[in-house]
Amino acid sequence: MFESIRVGGQGTPAALVLGYFKGEGLDKRSREADRSGMAASATQRGEATGEAGRIAEVFPPKGGPGRILVVGLGEKSKFKASDLRGIAAAVGRRLASTKDASVEVELSGPLAATRADHAAAGSAFGEGLGLLGWVCDTFKGKATTAPTRAKLLVRGGDSAFRDGLERGLALAASANWARTLSETPPNVATPDWMAEQATKMARKAGLGVRVFRGKDLERERFIGLINVGKASENKPCMIRLEYTPDRPRRKGRPVVLIGKTMTYDSGGLSLKVNNGMVGMKRDKDGGCGVLGAMHAIATVIKPRVPVVALLASAENSISDEAYRPDDVLRYRNGVTVEITNTDAEGRLVLADAFCYACEVEKPAYIVELSTLTGGVVTALGSTYAGLFCDDDALRAKLDKASAASGERVWRLPMHPEYREMMKSPIADILNSNPNRKAHPIQGAAFLSYFVEEGVPWAHIDIAGVHAVEGDSGPFVKGPTGWGARLLANLLDAE
Ligand code: BES
Ligand code: MN
Ligand code: ZN
Repeated sequence: MFESIRVGGQGTPAALVLGYFKGEGLDKRSREADRSGMAASATQRGEATGEAGRIAEVFPPKGGPGRILVVGLGEKSKFKASDLRGIAAAVGRRLASTKDASVEVELSGPLAATRADHAAAGSAFGEGLGLLGWVCDTFKGKATTAPTRAKLLVRGGDSAFRDGLERGLALAASANWARTLSETPPNVATPDWMAEQATKMARKAGLGVRVFRGKDLERERFIGLINVGKASENKPCMIRLEYTPDRPRRKGRPVVLIGKTMTYDSGGLSLKVNNGMVGMKRDKDGGCGVLGAMHAIATVIKPRVPVVALLASAENSISDEAYRPDDVLRYRNGVTVEITNTDAEGRLVLADAFCYACEVEKPAYIVELSTLTGGVVTALGSTYAGLFCDDDALRAKLDKASAASGERVWRLPMHPEYREMMKSPIADILNSNPNRKAHPIQGAAFLSYFVEEGVPWAHIDIAGVHAVEGDSGPFVKGPTGWGARLLANLLDAE
């Protein structure tokens, strides 16, 4: 929506943003920021309901800002810093339509009347604007006229709010990169291409990088990747990124982030039907979210603990070389898997990453993101991601990060009975129980066979939230970069 967004600018801004709470007028500090005195009366107008994001526009006389956007902040008693993400998006949509290129945001007055942290408020505002600003027009051609977009300058607030703005814009930039990767079509975004993008980012951001492909996969016995990726010309790989802190607080044990990175999911021989394939270029969005997080971790968050990312990347295709229902795979941790459905492929490649993480990385804990099941979309829609985590301490950390980023997670159960459901008559376990019960939980139960006892871990099924079907909050139709900001906030608290 914008060509770029930066913190800065001086002189009279094209637009000034002031805020007020529902049922209240403009506070003293906001009134002082408006020399025309016209903004105060705008809150009396009918359209000024005070609802969060509702805007009343004021046109002060010459010499002042071109327009003042008097924006509702919702109810004061319920106000949270993270509400500013949606409010900033509403303001941003208005600025994009008026093509204003500089804006001053003066919310110090109303913020001081709440317990909201000014840095968190600035960050949410920056995230809202930054996420709204995302555009991906790489795949437009000659038949489309490119719209003109403003280079937006933002300023305002106290120094904590301004620092927050910078942080929020940077987090949004990381999430936006994840969105651009997600948007890239599967004839371009192959596993090798994903590895190349990850490598370029890692070199620039100072992360370690290693890509396992071909013979490496055999050496590491990444049996899931080898089999799931067999049918495609676009060969599978495991991408490993590593962040090492300058001044480590805790030696050794890294936080491990795992992402399902299927560059296309046709279903394989258990082919998807009835248009179920459309959109499956986004089956890599777990990995995209993890890459976005690693970018934020390396460039903005810089936590004092090591972080390792593992992206299991393949294309689930069909050919005479495809893996098939009835095949049995033996994993590096000794567990054998009977394939009942080649469309339950995500868990097969993730199992490689979980085995490797536990055996080689010796993690403090593991968080894994995947577009794993259609069932989670049925259960939770696009409002919550499904969270599977039986470790109280890790869940508390994730809940905190989720509250900060606005990426909602809802806990779903894990119980030994679900593990029983996965037992196979011929091998140890099945990749999918054909009775079609509790699909999202089956996925988690399957993965549990590949996590070593004592390692805290979380599986987050993002199949419902990785993309939106229409404009919502700071998002436009398309990918949300889900998880990039959540995981960045998770590491920020370490
Ligand atoms: N990638 C899909 C899940 C998915 C569905 C993601 C819809 C995004 C939107 C996954 O690999 C899959 O095919 N899952 C199957 C599992 C089943 C065959 C056990 C599903 O959910 O139907
Ligand atoms: Mn599938
Ligand atoms: Zn899939």
